[in-house]
Amino acid sequence: MPKSEVKTSLLDNMIGVGDSVLLEPLTEDTFLENLKNRFDHSEIYTYIGSVVISVNPYRHLPVYTPEKVEEYRNRNFYELSPHIYALADEAYRSLRDQDKDQCILITGESGAGKTEASKLVMSYVAAVCGKGAEVNQVKEQLLQSNPVLEAFGNAKTMRNDNSSRFGKYMDIEFDFKGDPLGGVISNYLLEKSRVVKQPRGERNFHIFYQLLSGGSEDLLKQLKLEREFNQYNYLGLDSAKVNGVDDAANFRTVKNAMQIVGFMDDEVELVLEVVAAVLKLGNIEFKPESRVNGLDESRIQDKNELKEICELLGQDQAVLERAFSFRTVEAKQEKVSTTLNVAQAYYARDALAKNLYNRLFTWLVNRINESIKAQSKVRKKVMGVLDIYGFEIFENNSFEQFIINYCNEKLQQIFIELTLKEEQEEYIKEGIEWTHIEYFNNAIICELIENNTNGILAMLDEECLRPGTVTDETFLEKLNQVCAVHERFESRMSKSSRFLNDTTLPHNCFRIQHYAGKVMYHVEGFVDKNNDLLYRDLSQAMWKTNHVLVKSLFPEGNPAKMSLKRPPTAGSQFKASVATLMKNLQTKNPNYIRCIKPNDQKAPHIFAEALVRHQVRYLGLMENVRVRRAGYAFKQPYESCLERYKMLCSQTWPHWRQGSRDGVKVLLTELQIPPEEFSYGRSKIFIRNPRTLFELEDLRKRRLEDLATLIQKIYRGWKCRTNFLLMKKSQIIISAWTKRHFQRKKYLQLKSVTLIIQSYIRGWKARKLLRELKHQKRCEESATTIAAYWRGFQVRREYRKFFRANAGKKIYEFTIQRIMQKYFLEMKKKLPSMSPTEKTWPPRPYFFLDDTHTELKRIFHLWRCKKYRDQFTEQKKAIFEEKLEASELFKDKKALYTNSVQQPFQGDYLEISKNPKYQKLNGAVEEKIVLADVVNKINRANGKVAPRIFLLTQSNFILADQKSGQIKSTIPVMDITSVSVSKQTDGLFAVHLKEGSTAAAKGDFLFTSDRLIEIITKLYRTIFFKTNQKINVEINNE
Ligand SMILES: Nc1ncnc2c1ncn2[C@@H]1O[C@H](COP(=O)(O)OP(=O)(O)OP(=O)(O)O)[C@@H](O)[C@H]1O
Ligand SMILES: [Mg+2]
Repeated sequence: MPKSEVKTSLLDNMIGVGDSVLLEPLTEDTFLENLKNRFDHSEIYTYIGSVVISVNPYRHLPVYTPEKVEEYRNRNFYELSPHIYALADEAYRSLRDQDKDQCILITGESGAGKTEASKLVMSYVAAVCGKGAEVNQVKEQLLQSNPVLEAFGNAKTMRNDNSSRFGKYMDIEFDFKGDPLGGVISNYLLEKSRVVKQPRGERNFHIFYQLLSGGSEDLLKQLKLEREFNQYNYLGLDSAKVNGVDDAANFRTVKNAMQIVGFMDDEVELVLEVVAAVLKLGNIEFKPESRVNGLDESRIQDKNELKEICELLGQDQAVLERAFSFRTVEAKQEKVSTTLNVAQAYYARDALAKNLYNRLFTWLVNRINESIKAQSKVRKKVMGVLDIYGFEIFENNSFEQFIINYCNEKLQQIFIELTLKEEQEEYIKEGIEWTHIEYFNNAIICELIENNTNGILAMLDEECLRPGTVTDETFLEKLNQVCAVHERFESRMSKSSRFLNDTTLPHNCFRIQHYAGKVMYHVEGFVDKNNDLLYRDLSQAMWKTNHVLVKSLFPEGNPAKMSLKRPPTAGSQFKASVATLMKNLQTKNPNYIRCIKPNDQKAPHIFAEALVRHQVRYLGLMENVRVRRAGYAFKQPYESCLERYKMLCSQTWPHWRQGSRDGVKVLLTELQIPPEEFSYGRSKIFIRNPRTLFELEDLRKRRLEDLATLIQKIYRGWKCRTNFLLMKKSQIIISAWTKRHFQRKKYLQLKSVTLIIQSYIRGWKARKLLRELKHQKRCEESATTIAAYWRGFQVRREYRKFFRANAGKKIYEFTIQRIMQKYFLEMKKKLPSMSPTEKTWPPRPYFFLDDTHTELKRIFHLWRCKKYRDQFTEQKKAIFEEKLEASELFKDKKALYTNSVQQPFQGDYLEISKNPKYQKLNGAVEEKIVLADVVNKINRANGKVAPRIFLLTQSNFILADQKSGQIKSTIPVMDITSVSVSKQTDGLFAVHLKEGSTAAAKGDFLFTSDRLIEIITKLYRTIFFKTNQKINVEINNE
């Protein structure tokens, strides 16, 4: 599962079904199939309701990491996929929060993983409970007690390389906060026979091998040990090495753990000395020696080993040697000593070794308890973890197996009682109708074993205490008598002889049909083992050692405390302690871990179906499931049911405001689930059929997809909206700032403008005021000045006559007058000639007369010109005017003009009135003659030239014959429109007449005359005077 995915139920991503109660259909096959399926997918845990089934994976799985611990921490049991941590968490939380003492019952056969499971539970609880230096030390001590006990109490068996050879129940004690305070360990029946003899392929307890492999040379020397295993009779040789087990490393771990738990260095030394002594005891060998009295005696073959043991234990060699040779029986003041034969000597030796080791083990447990004991006296909450040896069926089953299997029967009993009771109570509590379910109750087997009057254990005790010859056979006989009719007891010799013909059942055996299968027990050794006798000589010898530990292990060897009372038998002791344990467990809330062993090869990935099927059967797992499903396959508190499925109904989604029970009702009604499919308990909904649950799950899955889309949609909308609002906000802020900026700018501008205007106005006002003030001041000053002048004037006027002041002005005026007089007089003398063209003028004598001098020059010139003009007559004036006119008309236009300037215009050159020749002509002309001269007329038709008299009067121009004076033509001057001449010096000119006039009929006139300039000027002037119009004088070269 990807890390990001969050699990909210064990139903998520489930392989098979996580809870077998949900199996559909439910058969043994489907149950196994489901276990196998999950096992193949590395899901080794499966639930039956609240019971955890654990299938041993025989390999390391990555499901015990600190992350996993965090994942399961404070989560509900069904929230995540099945795990031992879920159970541990549930137990721990109900201990802490609900103040309920808990016990965790781990059952299963040897090698199924009970010890591992118990360690996992402990480590989980250690990880989640309180922290702090003191608490951590307690935790560490509790955890480290495991390696110590395993080293001394575990061994390799055919079924398990680390098989627990003792039962262990550990109470972990907590304070009200859930912090660990300490613990108490109880141990049950160590399989001590293993010390002296191991079945084929099995080993002695780990510690022997660990010591030899891991002990330093010095240590071994000190303990008088050899490193080789084969030096020791007590070490089974065929499997001294176990694959994947490093004894040397484990030895270091154990020593370290002992240190952490609180063993002193010398204590560890003492313990190892005892271990060495046990190992060496096995090497003591006896040889027979015949005595005179005919009795066989035994002698120690090689006393070296005995010597070393005695050195190790600080023992007098003779004492021990004697203890191996004699047996003293004391009865009522009587002391009888008998010699031991070889067999008895060996028996005594082994008994000593077993006892020594067994007592050492018990001492270790007590010593650990001392260390981990809770210090404070406050009220404690307790979590018990029971890891007891599993049900065992060997080829040769003896007293130990009988005891172990009895214990397992008891545990099964408590399992049946508690689970069924609990289940039943739950239904009653929830008010659900309950029908009884048939299941196998093993009470009958327990009864067979433990019944005080006729139980097997009682029979055995009876036999052991009975005077007379007691053997295993007499015990079997007794059983045959008493238990023959018991349905679970089988034997060849039983009275009913039901099994007389059963050849599989040897004569020295009996068989019990345990809940987990039939087990055949060999009676051999039952009596001895039950008696658990150690010859008094040996215990006394042990007490006599100087070894403090050994001495303390054999208190009964103290002659002062010697008692003749028989110690309780092993069977009765065990029965009592099991009874105490059961009582203890019943007061606690049980949590079950049922371990299953998947194969006999201790190999990963192998799921031996037949083997598992067998375990499933005897563990009663199917019954367990059926009981859970009898009424209803699935139950869930209303709150969590509503929480999980509320999205399937519009009324409950997303919020249901009323009670969750009503919510679930509404939900199921809307989903149209048939009412017989569920039942409403007081706090839980009970679903009858797993299919219904899966349908709900399917619906939920589909709905979740829709919801995911919806969430996505809403999220996107939200994101966009948020973004938009943010942008809008930003935009407002930006525009506000911009507006502010511009307004500010504008304001500042206005302000500065206002200031300028203000300053101008103020300036203007100030200046105005200043002006006014200045004016006022000047007025005042002027008034003062005027007043001063006025007064001065008045005073001066008054006193003028008394001052010479006026003389200056007069002198000045006089001087000026003189200068002017002199100037004028001198000017009179210096005046230039009277000619108007004269340009010279005398220089001015004084600078101040500049204007006067110039004015005078102008006036003088004007006067001179007037004088000049005044000397001309009217006639002369007219001549000048004509000359002026001629100059205007011809100057610079006609070359001939320059010749004419010198010639005065005489006008009447012919003197008509005086010349008699022209008398007639004179008579014809009435008006004054303006011009009379002879010109040559050019005939325009032939070019002939004829002299003609050209006569001009004030209104006509007349042409007459030169000789006769005969008038040829008279033309009114008004008819002349224009005259044309050339630009050259010739005297040719044409007179153009007005079209339509009478004279014009003959056409224009063409003349030549030397006096052309005069003629045309006079003609022009005459016409102007007559008509007041100026005729056109064309001067060109055409
Ligand atoms: N959860 C687990 N993960 C990995 N290996 C495991 C697990 N449980 C058990 N094993 C393996 O199985 C072996 C046997 O387990 P364990 O010693 O717990 O059995 P047991 O039920 O205590 O047997 P016994 O009754 O003989 O004491 C362990 O040594 C270990 O190798
Ligand atoms: Mg174990």
